[in-house]
Amino acid sequence: MINNLLNRRSHRAFLNEKINIEDLNLIKKITLQAPTAGNTTLYSIIEIESQEIKNKLSILCDNQEMIKRAPHVWIFLADFHRWLKYFEYSETEQKTNSTIRKVALGDLHLAMQDAIIAAQTATIAIDELGYGSCYVGDIIENYEELQSLLNLPAHAVPATMLIFGKPKKKLNTPLVRPDEKYIFFTDAYKEQTKTEIEETFSKHEDNARNNNALPFDNKGSIADQFYLRKFSSKFMKEMNRSTKVFIERWCNEK
Ligand SMILES: Cc1cc2nc3c(=O)[nH]c(=O)nc-3n(C[C@H](O)[C@H](O)[C@H](O)COP(=O)(O)O)c2cc1C
Repeated sequence: MINNLLNRRSHRAFLNEKINIEDLNLIKKITLQAPTAGNTTLYSIIEIESQEIKNKLSILCDNQEMIKRAPHVWIFLADFHRWLKYFEYSETEQKTNSTIRKVALGDLHLAMQDAIIAAQTATIAIDELGYGSCYVGDIIENYEELQSLLNLPAHAVPATMLIFGKPKKKLNTPLVRPDEKYIFFTDAYKEQTKTEIEETFSKHEDNARNNNALPFDNKGSIADQFYLRKFSSKFMKEMNRSTKVFIERWCNEK
């Protein structure tokens, strides 16, 4: 277990077969054991079986072909819809002689935490059983199309997506990460110096430079690379637009 956690990698290429049903059921059981806020299970998971939907997701998520070919695709939703329906069926409003307030940003934050903790629990179970997975953050793009594709109510919104299966080749060489001292602070936020911030990503930078992968003729920094490839990218612009739409719908629809 510890060894698997220390050597875990994301996997994007899978054999064209499903994992066995016993293991799949075990992954579901372990996922449901994830901690959840007040034990309220503020999430749902949509398992995508339809190849047609996988193809559409592949386009909606920044044209990532790996989604089409993934044997298992799970979409994790931050879900308050279930509780709103339960209030209604339980006639909670009448019984408490109150008006049920609108669902708000704190509710969203909590439900997102639940959904993502469930996803990470699934990731660990998948890896522990010898399979491989990869998150797809781009599931928060193109909300309107996703909403109609999956019939999402206003209070069940995308948190993240996992693809998984039997890896073509199990990867076990971890990628570089920052040193602990740059990520763990004691008692309060620690403003970092220029040198400390540069050192935080120095291993990433060495790797990229060795692979001739940095911008400005390999003379740029990881900051320049992140800015050009991600922060100012079209897909990040779309993520920010789409997220705004589903948050506004979450906060405004009853
Ligand atoms: C929130 C999140 C979103 C991600 N989205 C994608 C994605 O859309 N496509 C992809 O190929 N990998 C995606 N990844 C995988 C990361 O690229 C990967 O975790 C990172 O490069 C580190 O590699 P490792 O997981 O092998 O250590 C995502 C990971 C996270 C945590």
